[in-house]
Amino acid sequence: MSSDLKVTLTNNPKEKPQDDKLGFGQIFTDHMFVMDYETGKGWHDARIEPYGPFSIDPSMMVLHYGQAIFEGMKAYRNIDGKIKVFRPKSFLARMNRSAARVCIPQIDTEFVATALKKLISIDKDWVPSKEGTSLYIRPFIVATDPYLGVRPSHKYRFFIILSPVGAYYPEGLNPVKIWVETKYVRAVPGGLGEAKTPANYAASILAAEEAKEHGYTQVLWLDGVERKYVEEVGTMNIFFKINNKIVTPALNGSILGGMTRDSVMRLAREWGMEVEEVKISIEEVYEAHANGSLQEIFGTGTAAVISPVSSLNWAGKIITVNDGKSGETSLRLYDEITGIQYGKFPDIFEWMEEVE
Ligand code: COI
Repeated sequence: MSSDLKVTLTNNPKEKPQDDKLGFGQIFTDHMFVMDYETGKGWHDARIEPYGPFSIDPSMMVLHYGQAIFEGMKAYRNIDGKIKVFRPKSFLARMNRSAARVCIPQIDTEFVATALKKLISIDKDWVPSKEGTSLYIRPFIVATDPYLGVRPSHKYRFFIILSPVGAYYPEGLNPVKIWVETKYVRAVPGGLGEAKTPANYAASILAAEEAKEHGYTQVLWLDGVERKYVEEVGTMNIFFKINNKIVTPALNGSILGGMTRDSVMRLAREWGMEVEEVKISIEEVYEAHANGSLQEIFGTGTAAVISPVSSLNWAGKIITVNDGKSGETSLRLYDEITGIQYGKFPDIFEWMEEVE
């Protein structure tokens, strides 16, 4: 693969938004990273160019069969003014695992991490500084072969786009209400569940819309076979604090292995808390609530960070957790993770990589 990176700067820089007007994923910076792949040639033509639309062939394979993957990561403006990316190599390694599952060629993670830092440094003035804001990074790869047969594409395009963001959920750090999904399933063993591929999100939106109609922010997915075991929430992994122990569903092939999930487990263990990855049924969660041992529920994700859960609705049975308030462990994890990300606390796990 080529290690050259061509840079073309925009002649029309856009107006930057105010930090307090940021939602999620609606504003894009001035530049993007692009790289092409062709069988026999490998990844080539890596470039940073002005952000903008690109022309596509209507027969491009991703439009028909959905062969695509993506990632979601973040860069933060630290309190000392430096810009740092949270665990970029781990995210790009996961991207390669997703790629393998849908027959997309592997990327050189070192090269892409370097290109990403270059892109961020070009668009550095777009990195917001207000607490709770960050620069969301969306790398993605799509199959571009103009072909209607079903097989792996012979051509791909890799993009990285950047978006200054605030909170993902309008609730922010206030607790969200979650609908336990009993009608639809997201993934099954052997399927695509652990890959970050658009199909999983397409599978989730009808359920999320119906949950919203009922007044719930997101759905909690149960396993696709028995509809009994807890898997993950729409855009987050899920955690329970039961009897002072942190419990999360074990990765089983149909759950996305979240980076925030991993970071939360490492932090909680560092604090001396017991952390278990287990197969946990929704019934056990309800039992823990009934016997008073369910202390907290929270979701974790790059976009959402830590999102406390105030209540669950499982087939009409509603439970309220921690009197509907954000729990102490959720808040402590939020403070610690964001403290590391904004450079307020020591980066004990060496998660942050500086953009020069
Ligand atoms: C993320 O948390 O980064 C995600 O990718 C979830 C999402 C916004 C689709």
